[in-house]
Amino acid sequence: MRRFHIRTYGCQMNAHDSEKVANLLYHAGWAAADDADAADLLLINTCSIRDKAEHQLYSDLGLLRKWKAARPGRVLGVAGCVAQQAGDAIQRRFAHVDFVFGTHNLRLVPSMVAAAERGRTSLEVGESDSLARFDLPERHPDYRGASPGRGYLTVMEGCDMFCSFCVVPGTRGREISRPATGIVAEARSLAARGVRELTLLGQTVNAYGRHDRRRGHVGTVSFGALLRRLAEIPGIERLRYTSPHPLFFDDELVAAHAELDVLCPHVHLPLQSGSNPILERMRRRYSVDEYRARVAALRAARPDIVLTTDLIVGFPGETDEDFRRTLDLVAEVGFVDAYSFKYSPRPGTTAASMSGAVGGDVAQARLQELQDLQRGLTLAAHRRRVGGATEVLVTGHSRHGGEQLSGRDPYHRVVNFRAPPGTVEPGELVAVRIVDATPHSLIGEVANPQTLGTMRRLVKGEPGMADEEGRSALFQVESNR
Ligand code: SAH
Ligand code: SF4
Ligand code: F3S
Repeated sequence: MRRFHIRTYGCQMNAHDSEKVANLLYHAGWAAADDADAADLLLINTCSIRDKAEHQLYSDLGLLRKWKAARPGRVLGVAGCVAQQAGDAIQRRFAHVDFVFGTHNLRLVPSMVAAAERGRTSLEVGESDSLARFDLPERHPDYRGASPGRGYLTVMEGCDMFCSFCVVPGTRGREISRPATGIVAEARSLAARGVRELTLLGQTVNAYGRHDRRRGHVGTVSFGALLRRLAEIPGIERLRYTSPHPLFFDDELVAAHAELDVLCPHVHLPLQSGSNPILERMRRRYSVDEYRARVAALRAARPDIVLTTDLIVGFPGETDEDFRRTLDLVAEVGFVDAYSFKYSPRPGTTAASMSGAVGGDVAQARLQELQDLQRGLTLAAHRRRVGGATEVLVTGHSRHGGEQLSGRDPYHRVVNFRAPPGTVEPGELVAVRIVDATPHSLIGEVANPQTLGTMRRLVKGEPGMADEEGRSALFQVESNR
């Protein structure tokens, strides 16, 4: 049987695209390979958010000449955001790449692979504003997600925000929202296949539906109403969404956090900078005070809410004072975690031609200082949890190996814990007592094996779940985030 392997370099949207492509390949009769060595078909799903991610692709592709030559009939494809922007250049420069496809053309993968097997190369980077791109087959019986019990669900794609630093509007195209009925149907189907934690995806997920009338698309509801409908589906025990934009964080969404038990008490709300002039130059369309007001509203609605964020340092024109304001706001809000990045100029964005470039050393020092501050905040937040208990959705064995298991609690914190051998499997929900904390995770122990028995709702043998040995991912998605 012919086997495929996918390498994934980007965000959750990118990782979910890899899952969709894997599912299409299962339906086309392919099987998954654990790594590139065992694969006949290798797909590289690229990211172009910062230049580092893009360079990684070019060095990878160079190395893959050997992979391709090692076995006749091997097929190499490139997908994702770099493919969308620079597909023809990739094909010209790397003759061993058989096909390239962009972010709107996942459905064409089986036919591109078939063409490649007959020796024909192809390039599919056309953009479409058709809802047809959401019509993908249900999970194949052989499909194993990277994490049993969890599933992504796309509710909207594209981005019309055009933040001055960001390539995504170029790589993902215009915003398009999927009709609510299709979303609810997919959520039901995922629940029937054992998914109990559902994460709704969109580049600006809470802008869901806002452009519909103009485009003549129908069938969307407000994002808050969508959450309410999904929360009612039997079997869905946790609901998350990412990434919301502060501008669309309306009162209805805040209220949903107060009302819906299954809506997790964690919001990843990208801030980018704590200084108004920089936010303006970034075209983020909110001020520091507006961001603060959203946080205050959320905390009033759900006092235990955990906030995480994205931050950029060294944006053109960022002074030391601007940067201090970011540090101050990070401490004031008390983010429990943050992804922070050095600004990376990207082709086709307006910030790339702005004056006021910040030197590499200065940006590096700022990044370091910000990350030091955040590490302290994260550790303090984790320490406050020691002595408490939490419910963990087991994702797999801990990176540290041994009997350690790993999972996520409702606040999206990583919990590493020990359990009696053979009692807990990936995909299960277990009660865990928190006994220690590090800056990266909470450390726990299974609270009580009796509670554990009643919390175990996983039925072995259902599609989409762990097999007898607890192995979960039959196809592997390598991601570097
Ligand atoms: N849609 C999300 C962000 C998606 S990109 C939002 O609007 O918040 C993920 C993160 O990458 C961004 O939040 C930003 O912090 C970072 N990022 C995007 N472009 C970047 C660039 N050119 N340089 C450095 N970081 C960048
Ligand atoms: Fe990029 Fe801004 Fe769109 Fe987020 S909202 S994807 S940062 S353009
Ligand atoms: Fe990267 Fe594209 Fe996601 S640029 S961050 S993979 S939308």
